[in-house]
Amino acid sequence: MTLLLHLADFNERSWADKFAAALPGRRVVLRGDDYDPKEIEYIFIWKPKPDAFDGLDNLKAVLSLGAGVDALLRHPRLPAGVPVVRFMDEDLTQRMSDYVLQNVLLHQRLATRFKRDQAAKRWVQLYPAPAWDAVVGVMGLGQLGQDAIRHLKVFGYKLRGWSRTPKTIEGVETFAGEAEFDTFLAGTDILVNLLPLTPETRGILNYETFAKLHRGGLDGEGPVVINAARGGHQKEADIVRALQDRTLWAASLDVFEVEPLPKESPLWDMDNVYITPHIAAASSERTGVAYFSKVIKDHEKGLPLPNVVDVARGY
Ligand code: NDP
Ligand code: OXD
Repeated sequence: MTLLLHLADFNERSWADKFAAALPGRRVVLRGDDYDPKEIEYIFIWKPKPDAFDGLDNLKAVLSLGAGVDALLRHPRLPAGVPVVRFMDEDLTQRMSDYVLQNVLLHQRLATRFKRDQAAKRWVQLYPAPAWDAVVGVMGLGQLGQDAIRHLKVFGYKLRGWSRTPKTIEGVETFAGEAEFDTFLAGTDILVNLLPLTPETRGILNYETFAKLHRGGLDGEGPVVINAARGGHQKEADIVRALQDRTLWAASLDVFEVEPLPKESPLWDMDNVYITPHIAAASSERTGVAYFSKVIKDHEKGLPLPNVVDVARGY
């Protein structure tokens, strides 16, 4: 068995060494190594290049370093019929909940307001309302959305969630499908996006969406948006416009239409925008190698692959 690593933005060599240690007796190769493409049975991949799958005629599975598989599923030469396994683990999930909590708290505690007061050396004692006065609406009730909700619940926020198919989650007002989207938005002060990027969800964070959010919450300083899913969900020109005309009060953005975010983007200079460079929840080498080594070993034994992506559904 040969495993090929095809990673961008990660230390390929370091992952390969750990895979080699975890998979004794198997070959682990990088793109620059000398190997016959026909010997590759598994490819572990992030940010596929156009030729990523060329000549890999004996692939048994595509293993996605990311929890999100949109770039893989959009790849014009993704081999048909080869299962795609995505990464799902507690470490990544907890990191995402950390990001969501940090940013929800930031906005509920009116960080932008006090940052502006500080810049102006202005002492104004506005007391932020308690967490239970703020309604957090989570788009996407999968692995990450539901874990974020579990954490937010502990802090006392009012919670609503939106998914494709109906869900019942204790203590959460849930909405499903396009038909209930506007009602979901109408009661939301802090909109958190944890959707997968699919043709249906592309561009969903647009001006029209922002204009439907609840106004007057967060001590009059809402609504705000937090996007930790994909840059393709957001229309950045609409975010800038909405922030400028007060349709939105603030935004926390971990992902962007173009990454790295171009230097000329107006978002960099806006004091009500909280930018992080797609670091909300990276896959860890330690748990990633453990997870995918087990996937490969189990599959070699004839066990089914876990967390196989539904290619037709897009996530
Ligand atoms: P899941 O597949 O577990 O959950 C997806 C959720 O989105 C489901 O609840 C699904 O509904 C819902 N959904 C899908 N399509 C629609 C739609 N058209 N309308 C309404 N709801 C929809 O995904 P995860 O929670 O594991 O991950 C979510 C995304 O987070 C990933 O795809 C990735 O892009 C992003 N991510 C970002 C990271 C970062 O560092 N910034 C790190 C990791 C992930 P249903 O339940 O009905 O199927
Ligand atoms: C992922 C990511 O999808 O890090 O896992 O964006």
